[in-house]
Amino acid sequence: MNKAVRLVQVVDDVAALAEAAAERVVARLAAPSDRRAVCLSGGSTPESLYRLLATERFRARIPWQQVHWFWGDERFVPSDDERSNAGMVMNSLLAHAPVPPENVHRIPTDVASPQESARLYAAELRDFYRADALDPRRPLFSVVLMGLGGDGHTASLFPGDPAVDEIARWVVGVERPGLEPFVPRVSLTLPALASTREMLFLVSGKSKRNVVKRVLAGEDLPSARAYADGDLVWLVDRDAAAEGENGT
Ligand code: 6PG
Repeated sequence: MNKAVRLVQVVDDVAALAEAAAERVVARLAAPSDRRAVCLSGGSTPESLYRLLATERFRARIPWQQVHWFWGDERFVPSDDERSNAGMVMNSLLAHAPVPPENVHRIPTDVASPQESARLYAAELRDFYRADALDPRRPLFSVVLMGLGGDGHTASLFPGDPAVDEIARWVVGVERPGLEPFVPRVSLTLPALASTREMLFLVSGKSKRNVVKRVLAGEDLPSARAYADGDLVWLVDRDAAAEGENGT
């Protein structure tokens, strides 16, 4: 069940999607706050956003010293594996920005198991938050970026997996993902992802049209269940927008 109203904004194409998302991220990071944190998504869609944020135009508008970077999910592969979500963000954004190394919080994959990684990452998040329980009036993140899989998954929360229903833990190990790449995953849970001033979904391409339609029709899918304590915004390009969807 959604606990927030979903604002759907349709833009022309993937370039417009990156531009709109970059403006939203920069605006959130500019707002006064004692703590600024971005939760990053993997997959291919956000790569153009990350590349855009690395350009001088946007780089100059981000208070790098104060921003902490986390991930919403990770594939349990070595850090230099080409399937690594963290690797993709390092290559497209963080390696090109004046980010203090201690502000980059990768999900560990050099540990015994996804469960162990989840436990360690939850401890790191709690440490950053300085409390054991999430308070909706004091969100963990400034912005959480999210993607939409063709099967309706988001982060590494796949339809039918008990991880989708997890409400106590902040991070879980996911042994069997529903889609490629078929490697175990580590994922934040819906309540941890929800602890944000803004949750921003980025959805692009014709291959997402059917699943966008299913989400908007209210089907019970992990991505449709995702909610935010702050604003919930879906940026969708025209190719992905379901017929008749013209934005709000
Ligand atoms: C991952 C992701 C995943 C992704 C969606 C959309 O690790 O695969 O974090 O949730 O965001 O699958 O991916 P695309 O942008 O590649 O379609």
